[in-house]
Amino acid sequence: MPVNNDDSKPQNKQSAPSKLPKHVAIIMDGNGRWAELRGRNRTFGHLRGARIAREIIEASSKIGLQELTLYTFSSENWLRPLEEVSFLMALLSRHLKRERATLVKNNIRFNAIGELSRLPAAVREEVDLTIATTAHCTGMRLTFALSYGGRQDILAAARTLAYQAQSGEFDPNTLSQEDFSRRFEDQLMTNGMSDPDLIIRTSGESRLSNFFLWQSAYSEILITSALWPDYNESELLSALQWYANRERRFGKTSAQVMAELTP
Ligand code: IPE
Ligand code: IPE
Ligand code: MG
Repeated sequence: MPVNNDDSKPQNKQSAPSKLPKHVAIIMDGNGRWAELRGRNRTFGHLRGARIAREIIEASSKIGLQELTLYTFSSENWLRPLEEVSFLMALLSRHLKRERATLVKNNIRFNAIGELSRLPAAVREEVDLTIATTAHCTGMRLTFALSYGGRQDILAAARTLAYQAQSGEFDPNTLSQEDFSRRFEDQLMTNGMSDPDLIIRTSGESRLSNFFLWQSAYSEILITSALWPDYNESELLSALQWYANRERRFGKTSAQVMAELTP
């Protein structure tokens, strides 16, 4: 069952609610602990985790989500032991190769964000091929955040804006908040994507770990205690039900939000 600091706990309803988030992002955490609990190597958890990712991608597409982003490998995950990093890279490569046809069959368009140039060439090739093969698909947009870090993305965008100001493209003294947001978001790797409405993190950790720092400003955040290899469609449906019961106020009062809803 998902858990949250909120007093309204998610309910285990088995059908998708009518009010769906447009963009769901998942921080898939807990593979290592899941394996260690079974006296196995961490890689065993990653193997199982990849299988769960496939199930959740398929379920999300069937439910009718427009966008699903999976935090697959963070910029900081390069700091892990070389053996584990190599295993994850090989798994990713294999997974993409094997799943490409299924993505097309399910009309899912694949996308990747992150410092992709840091990926080994073989993985990069699979990523590029999967993007190209699914480019015509018109259903759910699936994004893998790979070698992704929110701060790294923000720095790269800030750097571009600094160059733009230096070359006289705009005057920093008169830059409005709206102009800044537009210019800045145009430079972020998530350009063209909507902000995540719902961010789910598994394994009970209540942190973003450098994920979608700018984009999460008004995301609903659900922390579930399930370790990622134990996650399933039923957990996802509970999360969607929980989301459907949220009132998103964006700074306004509840009365204002209610008034806007009534014609
Ligand atoms: C998530 O599981 C997968 C990646 C970060 C690549 P972890 O590997 O972080 O598992 P735990 O958190 O150590 O249990
Ligand atoms: C976040 O999980 C990254 C991914 C799920 C890909 P981590 O396991 O790396 O996060 P920390 O280190 O516990 O914050
Ligand atoms: Mg972890």
